Amino acid sequence: MEFKDVTVRLLSRTPEDYVGQGVRLQGWVRTHRDQSEVIFIGLNDGSFYNNFQIVASDALSNVEEVRKMTLGSAFEVKGVLQESQGAGQKYDIDAQEITILGLASSDNPIQNKRHSFEFLRTLPHMRMRTNTFMAVFRVRSLLAHAIHTFFQDNNFVYVHTPIITSADAEGAGDLFRVTTIEPRKHKTDKQGNIKWQRELLGRRSYLTVSGQLNVEPFCTAFRNVYTFGPTFRAENSNTPRHANEFWMIEPEIAFGDLEVNMDLAEDMTKYMIRYVLEHAPEEMEFFNSRIDKGLIDRLQNVLNNEFGRVTYTEAIKLLEASGRKWEYPVEWGSDLQTEHERYLAEEYFKKPVFVTDYPEKIKAFYMRHNEDGETVRAMDLLVPGVGELIGGSQREERLDVLFAAMEKHGLEPEDYQGYVDIRRFGTFVHSGYGLGFERAVMYMTGMKNIRDVIPYPRTPKNVIF
Ligand code: 4AD
Ligand code: MG
Repeated sequence: MEFKDVTVRLLSRTPEDYVGQGVRLQGWVRTHRDQSEVIFIGLNDGSFYNNFQIVASDALSNVEEVRKMTLGSAFEVKGVLQESQGAGQKYDIDAQEITILGLASSDNPIQNKRHSFEFLRTLPHMRMRTNTFMAVFRVRSLLAHAIHTFFQDNNFVYVHTPIITSADAEGAGDLFRVTTIEPRKHKTDKQGNIKWQRELLGRRSYLTVSGQLNVEPFCTAFRNVYTFGPTFRAENSNTPRHANEFWMIEPEIAFGDLEVNMDLAEDMTKYMIRYVLEHAPEEMEFFNSRIDKGLIDRLQNVLNNEFGRVTYTEAIKLLEASGRKWEYPVEWGSDLQTEHERYLAEEYFKKPVFVTDYPEKIKAFYMRHNEDGETVRAMDLLVPGVGELIGGSQREERLDVLFAAMEKHGLEPEDYQGYVDIRRFGTFVHSGYGLGFERAVMYMTGMKNIRDVIPYPRTPKNVIF
């Protein structure tokens, strides 16, 4: 008999094409039930979050070994696809030959039972062997591809901005230091200042908090550009939505104002949703039924509606008029808290909403100043379930206004030389934003904790492996 190489995904999508035929698969034991005459093995081959049932009988020459196969063991099976006698599945594989490739130790921490997400976080190198995490990390991979495809198809040039940088892009001070000098070996001058020039790179440097300042200069040449890379924030935020290492996508568009910026963010978000629904229908069905009931309807609803747009000042009025008791007071001039963002996106607009024109005081120095002297052309995209998905702005393109803003924020112009220069050598209106990639994965999957959408999460007091 001939055994055709197939995948579980293929067998799950079009089993009829293979009934009565010989198939060959490699994978791992996810479930194992020994019912003496027959042994049922749930095989996972990596192509699908679900397992495929293999039925082994004592017709196999090595049936006693197969009986003792432990969870996690790697094996190859040749067999015939048949309609299943059992209730759990329509089809299974009648094994003709099973080759054990690598027997797992019997103390495998991933057992065939429901493990809590908290427990699985202690095993970042193992948890992708469970169906939820297989679905999450496949969607994560697809989403990255969708984003690149969207920008490349729209003629954006991908720029690899540096991970080590000498400037604090957000001016917020949440920086991880990069140093080659051992802490106690830092030399100081007579005033006690550290001699940073002794660093390997010749000056103080950090892990980047955002690629924005490095990608903006590229839009002066290519017009439309984007970065997609890791970013690092040393903030001590222990929440389900903050990580100390996360990925960000940052487009920058020349000759586009905040309206154009919002249009781009809306198009991109809808593209991501459409792409994942189309390319991972089974995974999305899984999330919809097991993780977040109503997820698919909610995403469809996003596709079919225009995003809301409201200014910060209007948003404050809506929050005041809500009749709610807020834990954090609503007050013009203070930042929106999670409870406020959720109210706006989930209850008032019931869809994604852009909040624009925030008070200058609570936003970064580079945002374009409005005529009112109090607000800047900022935009945050708030989405139901996740809160802030995107943060961006039109950029301050006027040199004198930028200098004044840097002074107000206590920043040294010499640390931002390259950024200042692009206002001197042919300035123009431009805008951009940052999409938090993990938040996008959360939004698409309904997963509630950022630690469960990052392969190896780094959060306060937590770095495993
Ligand atoms: O709003 P943020 O801080 O904006 C910037 O960094 C700008 N330089 C972007 C730009 O205009 N090019 O961050 C952008 C997004 C947020 O909306 C959020 O989705 C995500 O990055 N983000 C985080 N995600 C996970 N953990 C954190 N600690 C995050 N901080 C921001
Ligand atoms: Mg933000």
